[in-house]
Amino acid sequence: LDNGLARTPPMGWMAWERFRCNVNCKDDPDNCISENLIKQMADRMAADGFKDAGYEYVSIDDCWFASERDSNGRLQPDSTRFPSGMKALGDYIHKLGLKFGIYEDIGTKTCAGYPGSYNHIELDAQTFADWGVDMLKLDGCYANASYYAYGYPAMAKALNKTGRPIMYSCSWPAYISNPPYDVIAEHCNIWRNYGDIQDNWDSVSSIINHYGDNADKFAEVAAPGQFNDPDELIIGDFGLTYDQWRAQMALWAIFAAPLIMSVDLRNMDSEAAKILLNKNVIAVNQDPLGKQGVRIYKDTSIQTFRRELKDGNMAVAILRTSKGPTPARLDRSLKDLGLSAAVSYDCYETFQGKFIGSLSPDDEVTVWLNPAGGTYLMTCHPNPKPNARTNV
Ligand code: DGJ
Repeated sequence: LDNGLARTPPMGWMAWERFRCNVNCKDDPDNCISENLIKQMADRMAADGFKDAGYEYVSIDDCWFASERDSNGRLQPDSTRFPSGMKALGDYIHKLGLKFGIYEDIGTKTCAGYPGSYNHIELDAQTFADWGVDMLKLDGCYANASYYAYGYPAMAKALNKTGRPIMYSCSWPAYISNPPYDVIAEHCNIWRNYGDIQDNWDSVSSIINHYGDNADKFAEVAAPGQFNDPDELIIGDFGLTYDQWRAQMALWAIFAAPLIMSVDLRNMDSEAAKILLNKNVIAVNQDPLGKQGVRIYKDTSIQTFRRELKDGNMAVAILRTSKGPTPARLDRSLKDLGLSAAVSYDCYETFQGKFIGSLSPDDEVTVWLNPAGGTYLMTCHPNPKPNARTNV
C-alpha cells in the first residue's frame, strides 16, 4: 500500500500471543487486557532500549471492546479495563514517542465475539483516527470469503479518507485459499497469510517451512510499503530454547518480516532482550531494498535461506532442523550458499558482528549448528571487482 508507511518492515509490540483474551482483571490484574497493561508495555519499550532499536508500534489486539457499540453506533472500549478511554491511551503512547496500534475485524464480530466493523467501516476508520490510532490490524473472522475483496479495500479507502497516516495490517490472505497477492499488496501494508503463531518450536518451524515452500510467491510481492507477516516474535516467552529464539530472529530478518514482539517486557529474560535488540540482525531486517529472502536449499536436517540487501550485500541463514544429540559441523562454499555474483565478499557472522574473512565464491565457511533450531546468520559485502588492466 503506497501510503508512505512501512517502507521497511514495521517494528513494535502486540498483545495477542502472550496475553490473549485475558479479560479477568479481578483475578489477574497485572496481565488482563487493560490500559494499565498497554501503558506498562509502552513504558518498557521507551525505557529499555526497544524504542531506540526501532520498535515503535504498541498494539492492542482483540478483547479491548465493550460488548456493544455506543448509542451513536461508535465503538467503545470496555469501561472497567480502559477507564480513561482510547484517546487518552493514544496520547500516553505518543508522549513516549511511540505509536498506537489497535485491532478490529472485517466481519460482524471479532474472533473473540466483540463488535466487528461490518457495515461500520467509515465510522470505525474515523473513530480510530479521532483516537490517534497509527496502526490498524483488521482480522477476518465472521465474514464470508467473498466479502474480503470488498471489505479490506473499503477499509483502506476509509482510513485514507481520514487524512491520518494509519499503517494497515490485513488478515485477508490468512482466511482464503489462493489469495490475490497483487491486489492485497495494493491495499494493505502488511498481511498475515498463515495460522497464528503458538509458543512452541513446532509452530515456529511450520511457519518457516511455509515461508520456505512459498518463497518465490511471497517474495515477489514484498517491497517497501508491502510485506508478508509471518506473525509475532515469541522471543522471551516460554516455549522455545535459546537457539530457537535466535532462529526466529534470524529467519524473520531474512523474511523482511514485521518485528512485532509479543512478550512480557516487564519480566524480560536478558538473553532474549539481547536477541531482540541485536542491531546487526535488525539492520538485515530493515534493509531499505525491502526484498524478502528465499529458501535456496532444504534437506531433512538443514535449510539455507538467502536475502539480497542493498548494494549487492547478502544475508544468509543456515538453519538446522534435525534433532541432536550434538552440534553438527557443516562446510559450505559461498557458491553453495547462493553467493557468486562478486569476485569476493567480506563476510561477518551477523549476531556477533565477527569478521569471518574475505571469501571468494569457492571458499568454504565452516559452521557448527546446535540441534533443533541452531542457526548461523551471515552478512556479506561484495568487494569491488579489481580494475581491468589498461594497456598504455
Ligand atoms: C486471529 C488472529 O490471527 C490473531 O493474531 C488474533 O488477532 C486473534 N484472531 C484475536 O482474536
